Amino acid sequence: MRRLYLSTTLLFWLLVAAFWAGSLYLPPADESLATAAEKTYTKVDLARHATEENCWMAIRGSVYDLSAYLPEHPSRPELVLPWCGKEATEAYNTKTKGRPHSPYADELLNKYRIGKLAPDKP
Ligand code: HEM
Repeated sequence: MRRLYLSTTLLFWLLVAAFWAGSLYLPPADESLATAAEKTYTKVDLARHATEENCWMAIRGSVYDLSAYLPEHPSRPELVLPWCGKEATEAYNTKTKGRPHSPYADELLNKYRIGKLAPDKP
């Protein structure tokens, strides 16, 4: 009985030691890993997506692929299409008429986010 107790205790501590040793081999927790998956696009990347079927816009520092949404957009296409491939924060914020989009539009916009816009080089 005593032997069983000793060997089980030994096994337990061996397992604890093994887990501890194993954790030393894991890469250190790195905060940048959380955002590593996020893609960054330059204005040149953006400009390659400037058509109705392939329309990206940069709004408030993020890049959105709006190709699937454009046919649903309630305004005349001529108002939105010129912003494909461009930095369109001002146009989005004002609808080019000095009126902001609704919170619903902001929520919708989130669904099309594909990454962030690279800062301009000095
Ligand atoms: C950046 C260029 C854009 C321009 C110039 C623009 C302009 C307009 C205009 C003129 C209207 C209709 C009239 C009005 O409600 O005042 C409108 C409505 C709307 N737009 Fe845009 N839009 C743009 C981008 C977007 C994007 C990217 C989204 C969302 C993914 C969006 C979502 C909506 C929605 C949901 C409405 C209905 C009204 C509201 O909820 O605010 N728009 N937009």
